[in-house]
Amino acid sequence: MKVIIKKDYLELSKVAANIVRDEIIRKPNAVLGLPTGSTPLGMYRELIRMHKEEGLDLSGATTFNLDEYYGISYDNEQSYHYYMHQNFFDHVNIKPVNINIPDVIDDDIDRECEEYDNRIRKSGGIDLMILGIGHNGHIGFNEPGEEMETRTHITDLTKETIEANARFFENYDMVPKKAVTMGFGGIMTARKILLLANGEGKAEIIGKLLGSSKISTRIPASFLHIHSNVIVAVSEDAAKGLR
Ligand code: GLP
Repeated sequence: MKVIIKKDYLELSKVAANIVRDEIIRKPNAVLGLPTGSTPLGMYRELIRMHKEEGLDLSGATTFNLDEYYGISYDNEQSYHYYMHQNFFDHVNIKPVNINIPDVIDDDIDRECEEYDNRIRKSGGIDLMILGIGHNGHIGFNEPGEEMETRTHITDLTKETIEANARFFENYDMVPKKAVTMGFGGIMTARKILLLANGEGKAEIIGKLLGSSKISTRIPASFLHIHSNVIVAVSEDAAKGLR
């Protein structure tokens, strides 16, 4: 894994946006895997700036989001559909037909999961997958556990993740307990992966991830060690656990 340490969140966001921009310039019809959460917000802001001020053209790009809460409506401000439109898609020129986010409203969720993986395959596969990381090492909503599912699937969220997400919801009962997430099969087929981590809260998990080359379902992100083209970009405070 190649590690990039940036002085602060702004610099981290800029380097992430530069990597996305370079991919789009290299391949205008690139397929991007996109994350949500607080970490990529600065990257999306910088990409919007590049689009508006520097003419970055995303009209050929296709996107696949990593995950969505199960049972949430898309006009709920906490849904990842809402987040992606609000923070990115509404401000750039990605064609709506090329935007893919797991459809959690579908009656047959297993079929939708299967179709999501088929759509990724038919697109030619993900060129650049951008990831955040949970405090427990989850990627998308691939949570630590005994086993890991490789395909897109519906999953129960761990207590730790539900608690981490609770800050965004009015009360605990409203926090989704399930989500649909791309599995590690989909993630690992990406030709290039960029994992972002910001803030002191991520120092421990980044220390664990980069402090060992072993893989374990207890730290889902550790599976990225198998991939040959991963960049881990972190802010200085998230790098505090590194020797
Ligand atoms: C959620 C998302 C993940 C994301 C994680 C970290 O669990 N499903 O994809 O990486 O949050 O979020 P944050 O960047 O806010 O720390």
